[in-house]
Amino acid sequence: MSNQIPEEVIEAIRKANDIVDVVGDYVQLKKQGRNYFGLCPFHGEKTPSFSVTKDKQIFHCFGCGKGGNVITFLMEIENFSFYEALQFLADRSGIPLPDNLQLKKESSLSQESQDMLSAHEWLTKLYHHLLRYTKDGKEGYTYLKERGINDTTIDAFQLGFSPNVAQFTAEFLEKKGYHQQLLVKAGLLRVTDSGKATDRFLGRVIFPIRNHLGKTVAFGGRAIGDHKPKYINSPESELFHKGKLLYNFDLAKRHIRKQNEAILLEGQMDVIAAYQAGIRNVIATLGTALTDFQAKLLKRYVNIVVICYDGDRAGLDAAYKAAVLLQQSGCEVKIAHLDPDMDPDSYIHTYGGEAFEKDVIKASDTFMSFYMRFLKKDYNLNHEGDRIDYMEAVLKQLAKIDSPLEREYYIKELSNEFNISIAALQDEIFGYREKFGLNKDNQQKNRYTSSKLWNARNSQLLPASHNAERYLLAYMLQDIRIAERVQDKIGAGFQLDAHKIIVTHLYAFYEEGNDPDVSLFLGRITEPGLQKIITEIAMLPLQEDISDKQLDDYIHMIIANQTDKVTIKSLKEQQKLAEQQNDPIKAAQIAMQIIEIKKQLKNMN
Ligand code: UTP
Ligand code: MN
Repeated sequence: MSNQIPEEVIEAIRKANDIVDVVGDYVQLKKQGRNYFGLCPFHGEKTPSFSVTKDKQIFHCFGCGKGGNVITFLMEIENFSFYEALQFLADRSGIPLPDNLQLKKESSLSQESQDMLSAHEWLTKLYHHLLRYTKDGKEGYTYLKERGINDTTIDAFQLGFSPNVAQFTAEFLEKKGYHQQLLVKAGLLRVTDSGKATDRFLGRVIFPIRNHLGKTVAFGGRAIGDHKPKYINSPESELFHKGKLLYNFDLAKRHIRKQNEAILLEGQMDVIAAYQAGIRNVIATLGTALTDFQAKLLKRYVNIVVICYDGDRAGLDAAYKAAVLLQQSGCEVKIAHLDPDMDPDSYIHTYGGEAFEKDVIKASDTFMSFYMRFLKKDYNLNHEGDRIDYMEAVLKQLAKIDSPLEREYYIKELSNEFNISIAALQDEIFGYREKFGLNKDNQQKNRYTSSKLWNARNSQLLPASHNAERYLLAYMLQDIRIAERVQDKIGAGFQLDAHKIIVTHLYAFYEEGNDPDVSLFLGRITEPGLQKIITEIAMLPLQEDISDKQLDDYIHMIIANQTDKVTIKSLKEQQKLAEQQNDPIKAAQIAMQIIEIKKQLKNMN
């Protein structure tokens, strides 16, 4: 797989990219003991069982078993080929790959998708250039200026303009060698009734829509003036899935992680205005409802999401739905309040970025306060019946809050507003909590450490000899001296085939002069099944200084188990022979012997 690229180059690139940082771009990691934990990006989960080890430079998920080094991680999460992962890390750390190797890189994307990507790249540049530097783009430039967008921001978002010349982009891209069919499929061109392919966004301001890697995968085109529709977006394609992408995620990611807070907005213009005002942890859905996918994606990066949608009715409804989804995915949600005629962009335009940050974002409501306000629209609170219904709806929601202190805060508010005693409200809530099964002590937080996980999920289930092999391997992975000791005593004489293969590789690895380095060692194991086993083993909690005696105990457990198994096998053959020879007494004696050994084996395991 990696034979065309010199080991040293791969090694240098791997070393220059700390796995904790690379994984940290995808998963919010918390340090616990020596390891980092987070929510596994490869399977849905709410309590973290995904861990990354800095010393060993590997990751492993105790839930789904996936594991590997920084290169494997990128191959998994980005669907990269080996070369793409390496290229990505090379770029990231500023270590150039040798030129001749750049050509050989194979891609995980189909040729068609690669062509679509590069066509998008060309067009982004073209549209942007037209807007910034040419007469053809003047209309777009003036429009953005009037909306208060400065040149730096225009450049940061590569905003552009598509002139109202039907064949302009078609000709440009065809000259670059792209087939019309592909461009139509990518949604960059549109076929008119007369069968001609024309630009999709004629006369519109162009907002490139970048994926999380910063590559343009679609465009949004804003009409100048009141043309309908206001925005035209690229259609869905292999590259662009509206429901999976968050606008500006590539630029915001870093800030979101740093601040442990993301601000979710509705549209491109809101993001751009906030960005220009210096608020950088902003992302947006592209005018569609937040999806479960997007909510889970966010949860991987951040704990707190502030939703700041348009202040109108539609914005409120959308905010409520997004808040519920985000809560379900485990995020703490806050909801910012804007007047009905405002959106973030217009607010910033009118009152400035500082006011937006201080009076809108920082002043966000908790979900519960928002909900209490939001719910009122459905009731006429002048009617007693409605008042009661409203209170019940609120209490039901309140009952779901685990913190008694927090509950009390809202109870007081309700009590004041509706003049009902606190005790009565508390009773009601107690009833709901009974019904939801929430009154039991469910406060105990699951704190996972690797050793707890191992004890809980694995070790107990495995026979002792099997465990002995795993621990021995774990020590061997981090200590050459131990590996040599084991090699002397039993060579590759492990019971499990997978372990046999692993030790064989490991002996070779050390014989080539390598120092212990799980991450590097993983690089030479191509089979994912084995990679899993190795990372699992490497994550075992080990003693700091294990004595030779303890090591030998492990070794003996393996040998004893093997000898016993060999003995049983041969005894069984003798037993069969005795039966064939019509010697029931001898057969019975042998059977007794077998039972005895099995019993011992069982006691030991
Ligand atoms: P808005 O109508 O709130 O647009 O739609 P906006 O961001 O305030 O736009 P400006 O300020 O008038 O320029 C929010 C988002 O919904 C999508 C766009 O992504 C927009 O940013 N949208 C809106 C469409 O896709 N099509 C439309 O016709 C309108
Ligand atoms: Mn707007």
